[in-house]
Amino acid sequence: MNRSLMLKLSVFLPLLVATAVAPADDFVKLVQSCENCHGKDGNSTTPDVPIIAGFSHEGFLNTIDVFREGDRIALKFHKPGEPETVMNDIAKGLSDEQARNLADYFSQRGFKPPKQSVNTELARRGEVIHKRLCEKCHTDNGAHPVEDAAILAGQWTPYLRRQFDNFLSGKRMVPRTMLRRIKELSKDDIEALLNFYASKGMP
Ligand code: HEC
Ligand code: HEC
Repeated sequence: MNRSLMLKLSVFLPLLVATAVAPADDFVKLVQSCENCHGKDGNSTTPDVPIIAGFSHEGFLNTIDVFREGDRIALKFHKPGEPETVMNDIAKGLSDEQARNLADYFSQRGFKPPKQSVNTELARRGEVIHKRLCEKCHTDNGAHPVEDAAILAGQWTPYLRRQFDNFLSGKRMVPRTMLRRIKELSKDDIEALLNFYASKGMP
């Protein structure tokens, strides 16, 4: 290789490579920003923060839309007088293309249920309640939900418990059919369901 060609390559090659990888690089950074809270591959190790790996593509996008519309409030991150969750701003900041790419990415990661303590007696009661009221939409014991519902089986209990509070206090909008069923539940029923979901992981 003559010297001038080498010089050209040494100047232009890094530039070319930089242009070629820039979008992918941005995407990696975007994924990392999610992983800062949601854990590697979306498998959160923080009991307050949901696992977001392994949702259906559709379900993931639906959740992003729900945040964009401001229909959910995350109590942990909401400062007094400030009704929005960080996720609302994060979801609003995503372009449709980014949201689709993130849905592709996280739906292809395996959902890894964490080990959680379970009261088996309560879990058995929870199973009966689940089959009667929830299985219709949260199919396969909440592991393979219908298109737009999230995974319940193996999700963090403290996160799910907060969602029940949010449903009942009207802080999170949910399908009317579901709310009617949630309102039928006693506090004990909810604890039974939480133990049941904690006892389940993805098969
Ligand atoms: C500062 C921490 C933080 C960051 C950064 C963050 N999230 Fe979240 N995310 C949360 C919390 C907390 C919740 C639970 C919100 C609630 O309680 O309603 C959540 C909920 C979600 C949910 C709903 C899960 C479910 O089960 O319904 C999805 C999907 C999600 N985040 C995706 C993302 C994506 C994609 C990114 C990166 C672009 C991201 N998050 C970045 C903290 C974060
Ligand atoms: C008519 C269908 C339907 C029925 C029946 C139903 N759900 Fe849901 N559920 C949904 C949908 C859809 C979502 C997602 C809603 C959203 O993100 O706005 C959801 C979300 C949830 C979530 C939040 C999950 C998360 O990751 O944040 C919980 C918890 C939940 N359902 C529990 C239950 C329980 C318990 C029952 C039975 C008592 C039940 N659902 C019955 C459709 C249903």
